[in-house]
Amino acid sequence: MPHGPAILVFDSGLGGLTVLREIVSARPDAAYTYVADDAFFPYGQHTEDEIIARVVPLIGDLIATHKPDLAVIACNTASTLVMAHLRQAYGIPFVGTVPAIKPACAASRTKRVSVLGTRGTVRREYTRTLIRDFAGDCQTTLVGSEHLAALAEAALRGEAVSDAAIAAEIAPCFVGDDAATRTDTVVLACTHYPLLLGQIQRLAPWPVDWIDPAPAIARRVVDLAGPKAADISPAPARMIFTSGKASSELNGALKPFFGAAALTPA
Ligand code: DGL
Repeated sequence: MPHGPAILVFDSGLGGLTVLREIVSARPDAAYTYVADDAFFPYGQHTEDEIIARVVPLIGDLIATHKPDLAVIACNTASTLVMAHLRQAYGIPFVGTVPAIKPACAASRTKRVSVLGTRGTVRREYTRTLIRDFAGDCQTTLVGSEHLAALAEAALRGEAVSDAAIAAEIAPCFVGDDAATRTDTVVLACTHYPLLLGQIQRLAPWPVDWIDPAPAIARRVVDLAGPKAADISPAPARMIFTSGKASSELNGALKPFFGAAALTPA
């Protein structure tokens, strides 16, 4: 049975599954390989040089092995550093994931927006430049979370994650107390955080709009790869952990992100 393009989706761990889920729904016919670089997780704790030295050759190896038509770097902590290096080194199209500061600031009514990402992402010059270029008259608060990505991984593995731990990580996003001027929009600038969205929304001190870039990334993939072709059925999908861990350990938790595609061991 013919299938659509081969698409590689890459993250430091399981967060990129929140991006994969949107891409799969836009292109259910594509052949997906999802790679979690869990041997190097969390990226938020590594230096910029360490991430570039790790990710650029690793993506080269993955391209050589899996021959994708397109690759999605479903990780803000990596994308804010490596996209230019990847495009220079390899000939396939790349889609990155960077903090959605422009749409968040355009949508905010109180003109106060927080950007919740890993410590690495909020420190990046790339993120600071997005704010300079696109925040306009919005006041932005950068919140570097140390533990939220690991908490999201634990939740996906079915472990209990305490409300107190999550509340402490998101608390600095909420600035001001007057409803007319306090934070009304928070950018989810790490692909892991939508895994905790239900709990995060419930624990927020007041309701805000949480901006998840995954739908925009899926639209970009469709721009580059084209729309779903008729009469093409889903190809088997592969899930790879760089630690060598078997995806079967997590099969039940992973399946919903892959849509109708059968998940085969890599
Ligand atoms: N999922 C990653 C991101 O979007 C980072 C998590 C980590 O490895 O620290 O930034």
